[in-house]
Amino acid sequence: MNQNLDILITEESIRKRVKELGEKISSDYAGREIIAIGILKGAWVFMSDLVREIEIPVICDFIGVSSYGDAAVSSERVKLISDIRIPINGKEILLIDDIIDTGFSINFVKGYIKSMNPAGIKVCVLLDKPSRRKLDIHVDYTGFTIPDRFVVGYGLDYAEKYRNLPYIAAIK
Ligand code: IMP
Ligand code: MG
Repeated sequence: MNQNLDILITEESIRKRVKELGEKISSDYAGREIIAIGILKGAWVFMSDLVREIEIPVICDFIGVSSYGDAAVSSERVKLISDIRIPINGKEILLIDDIIDTGFSINFVKGYIKSMNPAGIKVCVLLDKPSRRKLDIHVDYTGFTIPDRFVVGYGLDYAEKYRNLPYIAAIK
């Protein structure tokens, strides 16, 4: 165990919560099909576990944005790095991200996806750091609300490292 890390959310708690989110999403969208769009890179670990807990038909795609560079401070400038690949006009979209912090990333992606005329857009994040929010964004599904600490693991990185940790930890 890395001595610079404090475990905030264990692997077991994550597994339990992801299962609950999958059940809730499956019942909310019962009888329908969704397109899950993961925001790269942070969302991929969470998304891979979440979609396996969803029991309705799910189509997966990804969108790449960058806001941080390698720094641990947020940026209001969000840039599209890679686009989705499937048509989403008239479809139900579930946007998936690792964490909502200031809200700039999700706000940008939501606006961009909305311009493609889907039937609806919902937002699902594993983590919410509400204390740092700068934009009023509605989040439909939240895994855990966390304090204002920089966290890594389960897809989240610090300078591209730690994404492979199976738990969520704060950097000391
Ligand atoms: P926002 O645009 O400020 O809401 O930031 C969202 C993005 O910043 C997330 O998708 C993450 O990639 C990154 N981010 C925000 N907080 C953290 C953190 O504590 N650890 C790692 N990445 C973070
Ligand atoms: Mg991200």
